[in-house]
Formats: sequence, structure tokens, C-alpha cells
Amino acid sequence: MIKIVDCGSQLTQNIARRIRELGVYTEIIPFNTSIERIKEQDLEGIVISGGQFSVYDKGSPTYSKEVLNLGVPILGICYGQQSIAHLLGGKVSPAQSREYGETKVKRTDESQLFHKVSSDFKVWMSHGDVVEQLPEGFETIAVSENNHVAAMQMKERNIYSVQFHPEVDHTENGRVILDNFLGICNAQRTWDPTKEYDKIVGGLREKLKGKVAIGGISGGVDSSTVSVLVNQVIGKNYYPIFVDNGLLRLNEAVRVEESLKGFNLGIKYIDASRRFLEKLQGVEDPDEKRKIIGHEFIAVFEEEARKIQGAIYLIQGTLYPDVIESVPVYGSSSKIKRHHNVGGLPEKMGLEVVEPFRSLFKDEVRKIAEQKLGMPNHIVWRHPFPGPGLAVRIIGDVNEEKLRIVREADDIFISELMKRGLYYEISQAFAGLLGGRAVGVMGDAGTYEGIVGLRAVVTNDFMTADWYRFKDTDIGPIVNRIINEVRGVNRVLYDKSQKPPSTIEWE
Ligand code: XMP
Repeated sequence: MIKIVDCGSQLTQNIARRIRELGVYTEIIPFNTSIERIKEQDLEGIVISGGQFSVYDKGSPTYSKEVLNLGVPILGICYGQQSIAHLLGGKVSPAQSREYGETKVKRTDESQLFHKVSSDFKVWMSHGDVVEQLPEGFETIAVSENNHVAAMQMKERNIYSVQFHPEVDHTENGRVILDNFLGICNAQRTWDPTKEYDKIVGGLREKLKGKVAIGGISGGVDSSTVSVLVNQVIGKNYYPIFVDNGLLRLNEAVRVEESLKGFNLGIKYIDASRRFLEKLQGVEDPDEKRKIIGHEFIAVFEEEARKIQGAIYLIQGTLYPDVIESVPVYGSSSKIKRHHNVGGLPEKMGLEVVEPFRSLFKDEVRKIAEQKLGMPNHIVWRHPFPGPGLAVRIIGDVNEEKLRIVREADDIFISELMKRGLYYEISQAFAGLLGGRAVGVMGDAGTYEGIVGLRAVVTNDFMTADWYRFKDTDIGPIVNRIINEVRGVNRVLYDKSQKPPSTIEWE
């Protein structure tokens, strides 16, 4: 396996996903992991990630120099390049001209890392420091337009580094470069998530045999796939619970029931909407709303779970990114998401948590869902929906009337995207309700009504996202339909903010 030493970059997960896509198993470890732990397992190579720090910053993520002496090939990326230079006696300094975004680089010397890579190519950079002086024994293998060291190598020790980010799509030849590195490592190309499936099923069979398990199901791909899987292993001894918190989209419970009908999951539906809405009355602060919803969810889930005799396991669809995000590396993306799940419940009820997908990325779970479990497109490729539901799509306090507006507008938006064949091109789309009201005219009368916002983004990892470019002939009729058909709305806006700096949800 390849280990990725995480120095806190938001792109570390992208490196892992790319390497796995190339058929090699990889794990992310914090920069301060001990050398003994790093050496464990079949270590074939090490990647050192980027990070937002300068090597001279107090508290910059400094891994042990020993990491570079383990005898396996090394690839440093961005901060990874600077830290290698720094640790091995080179010089890093602030650049006169910093490089952010698209930059051109030119190869200057032969390198296995650039096998089959053109002599100059576009890359994506994001750095303020540069390697001013190479460590002894290193040579420059590419330079940027500003004549900065864009890549360097020390062939004898198989240490390579790049200043740019080969793990992002905007870098030409990015995949080829990572592929070349895996070739240098002689890494075994045996990783295939669908093969992992057999291991997961085997493990579950052994663990869950004759036992009773419960789980939450929301209709999203993670909880649906894990439920179908566990149901295939222990059948009726698995009890999936669906909690309607009153913050769901139009007819959500019915749709989830319909779409999973063929799998005979025996889902228990609990309508707890009144409880949630009462608790949320008058609450405007987004964090407060999330907290209330989280607590209430646990309370409802616990009440229901207690009714299930003999349950000892709680099944969760936790994915690898959730596991990595809980590892404290400063500056990592851990603070971006404030998800709630059934945390706190297991200890209280003495349940053991089982997370069959904790080593998988979402695209790997999707592969299993499609290829191994035969799950339909509309579940596998369903846009994500946040746990706190429409409460984070209504700015300010939540009430039935606002929920009605959002539900109707969202339903028009999503059904139009389906009808126009755009739904699967977009990673996540929704309608929300802005605070305040706007003036309009309808017929002869003036109106003073709600403002609906539409959001549609394209993203691979939901860490960064771009807004979807609609054709006027698509967005125009959608806006008209919402204004004409949803009572209480006289204005619709389309959100063209990128993430970062904006988030996907509004709250
Ligand atoms: P943001 O808004 O952070 O969203 O750019 C990134 C992804 O996470 C989802 N999201 C949540 N999911 N509970 C969830 O289960 C939450 O509190 C939450 N907040 C955001 C969001 O829908 C998007 O897919």
C-alpha cells in the first residue's frame, strides 16, 4: 500500500482517491504518525501532501526526517516538496511572484516521473513559498513560467516532488504523473472496491450471525446501500428505521419507500415531524438549529430502537472521508462539515457500532451498489441531502408555510432537471428560501412575497464546487414555473457562488 502523510491539505483526499482509481490501495495518515506505524503493512511508497503552512511557520506540520529514509519511493506535493527541500538541507523562501491557479510548467530534464508527459503542460498551483535552493544530490526536472522549481528529483534515492497538484483535474497529465509514481514504487495494482465487497460480506456474516441489528435509513446512497447489504446478510434480523423529521422534501418518505420496494427491507417509518417543528419554533441560528435537530433525532431514534428486542448492533454508513476528518491535523477540512448522525446513542444503549464502508469513498460505495447489489440509478446517483434537511435551506426560523414554499419550489426544480436530462450532470441541486420579502407586481396588484434561491453545483468531492452553467432555455422556464405555481413567491435567484469561499448549503 501507499501511505499519504497528511500535512493538512484539503486536497489530501483527492490524492487518495486518484491512487485508488489507479488500482492501488492507499491510506491517509497524520503527519505525526510514528515511524513504526508508517513502516507497518506492505508499504510500497509514501506521498507527502500539501498544506497551507510555510515550513518556517510555528506549528507547521513537521514529520520526522526518518520518513524520507525508509527506502521506499517518496513523492512530495506542494508543501510536500517544500518540506522535503527544507528537511534535506535546501532553502525555501517566499516567492516574489506567488502562483495560484493555472500555470504552465516546462520539463527541463529526463525523469521517470514524467514518462509520457509532454514537454510543457498546464498545472494547478497554490503556493506562496518556493524552493530557492535544491538539497544536495537533487536536480530540477521542471520549472514554472516564473522560473520557480516546479519539480525536482533525487533518482538514486527515488525521492520526487512537484510544486503543483497532480491530484486535481485542472492539472494536465496529473493522473499520468501519479501513475508513473506508482510504477516507480512497483506498487501492486490489486485494489478494486467490488472485490472488497466479498471481504466486507464475509466479515459481516461472521460478526452478525444470529444477532439483531438496527440502523438509520434516509434514502441516500450510503445508508441505502449499507441497509441492502446488511439485509442480504441477516435478513429480518436487521431493522432499518426511517425518521421523518418534518424537514424532508416533498413526498420524501413515500419516494424512499417506492425506490427501495424491491429490496424488502422492512423499513420502519416514524413520523416525528411535529416534535422537531415544535422544538425549532422561532430558532434562527444555524448551529442552534443543527443542534436541536441532532438531539431530537437521537431521542426519537433511541425510543424506536428500544422497541426492537435483542438489538446489539447499530449499523452505520460511515465513509472513509468521515473517518479521516476525525483525525486532528491542523487546517484539515474537518471543521467545514458539522454533520449530525446517531453519535452518542451507542454508548447510551450499549450498542456496538458496525461501519462496513469505513474504508471506502463514496464513488467506491456507488460501484458496489451498482455492480454488486444491482441498485437502481436513482438511488446510486441521488444528490446528497443534509441530515438537518430543509432547515439549512431556509434562512432564519423554520415554519410550515416556509417549508411548503421550499418543498414546492424544490419539487419543480428537481423534476424539471430530470425531465431535461440534467439531473445526473449536476452533483447537487436544490431550492431554498432566503430571508425577507421582495416587492413585485402580479396582475394589477403589487405583491410583497418570498424569495426563492436555486443552487446547482458540480463537484467530485463536495469539498470544492463550481456552479452549474444552465442554458437560458433551461433556467428561464424553471424560474417562471416556480413564480407561477408556488404561492408566496415573486422572485427567484440563481446562486453563482463557488465553494470555497461559499458552502454548498446556505446555512
Ligand atoms: P457544505 O454546505 O458544507 O456541504 O458545502 C457539503 C456537503 O455536505 C452536506 N451537508 C450536510 N450533510 N448534515 C449532513 O448530513 C449537515 O449538517 C450538512 N451540512 C452540509 C451538503 O448537503 C453537501 O452535500
